[in-house]
Amino acid sequence: MCDLSDAHSHRHFGFLVDTPEIRALIDETARLTASIADVAARVEALRPAFGRLLASENWLPENCAKPDEASRMGGGIGQYALYRAEDGSLCLFSLVVPAGASTPVHDHLAWGLVGIYRGRQDETVYRRLDDGRDPSHADLEVAKRQELGPGEFYTLLPPTDDIHYVRTISDTPSISIHLLANDTACIWRHRFEPSTGAVTPFRSGYANAPCPDQPASAT
Ligand SMILES: [Fe+2]
Repeated sequence: MCDLSDAHSHRHFGFLVDTPEIRALIDETARLTASIADVAARVEALRPAFGRLLASENWLPENCAKPDEASRMGGGIGQYALYRAEDGSLCLFSLVVPAGASTPVHDHLAWGLVGIYRGRQDETVYRRLDDGRDPSHADLEVAKRQELGPGEFYTLLPPTDDIHYVRTISDTPSISIHLLANDTACIWRHRFEPSTGAVTPFRSGYANAPCPDQPASAT
């Protein structure tokens, strides 16, 4: 399920980790997506179900909660798919950031909810000052910083607050849980270098599942 060496023996879409807690959140997301057209209202309505998953114990397998030494993001950061809609409309994943490590500055390009399951993170959110017309350049300034601990989460409604990075400030790896309305690790997103304004294409990849145009062995 969360071990790439098992990639040939497990499914790559649907419930890669099949527990009642994960099914409850995905079912509720489907129900609210069908019944609430307004995305802002939908993510607000999803808060209770997302908070319940973060508050639950024993649903995240240990091998989806460990650093990934082969990480494409560097720093041992592990991104593990827990649920992926085959049409690319939704995913749930864990992100494991070792103590002291930081993600690149990146975007997500989808609505969703993000919260802390274990450890603590310091999040820095950027505001884009340019009009976004140049795909290779972005003028960014820090919009806010916040610390997040277990059970704390936020909603994401791009383009607002969609560019950020997180750093683990606990002595143990932080594990954050992401419910996002795309196949986050497989779409081409953006990596930003705020000091120079450079923007580069970025695809993080899952540690435990290939992207649709990749063979399993190349993940
Ligand atoms: Fe992120």
